[in-house]
Amino acid sequence: MDVLISESEIQRRVTELAHQIEVDYQGRPLTVVAVLTGSLVFLADLIRNIRLPLRVGLLQASSYRGASTVSTGTLLINESFAPDVAGRDVLLLDDILDTGLTISALAQRMRERGAARVRTAVLLRKIGRQAVPFEPDYTGFSIPDRFVVGYGLDFNDDYRHIPYIGVLTDPLPAADPLP
Ligand code: XMP
Repeated sequence: MDVLISESEIQRRVTELAHQIEVDYQGRPLTVVAVLTGSLVFLADLIRNIRLPLRVGLLQASSYRGASTVSTGTLLINESFAPDVAGRDVLLLDDILDTGLTISALAQRMRERGAARVRTAVLLRKIGRQAVPFEPDYTGFSIPDRFVVGYGLDFNDDYRHIPYIGVLTDPLPAADPLP
């Protein structure tokens, strides 16, 4: 595994983002909604550095299947743990913006659920992959078009616990065929 972004670089940047968010959300009813499972570590580090009253909610979205490393374009949204966002400022967190389909669909969903304002934060943004026009309000790092793992991101549900962002050096298996 090659290290793309070290643990200390991540910690420094996440703290910077938290302070920016703190300034931007003074006096506003903030609900941070994290997209499971990849943004769990980002969520935990970010909110511990935001010194404002806030609520936390979770959504689950998946567009990847098994060992596949390409998006199927079909987004499954599980709202079982979604908070009541009516009238609140939602800050939607995702681990990575790749094509942009996930975060743009979830932002729209939060508006449909009555959020007063929806902003988005992504830890990583892949360069040259975006398929839908979407501009996140907060971005941790722009990265090259490589499959990355660690700090919440997985390959086949492994590697999420690694404290840095890495690139797997072994060739990845071919994508699963769709049923
Ligand atoms: P879209 O294409 O909707 O994709 O912007 C966002 C979701 O795709 C997953 N994703 C990755 N997961 N390493 C991962 O572990 C990657 O390099 C990668 N690229 C995209 C991720 O779940 C994200 O929420």
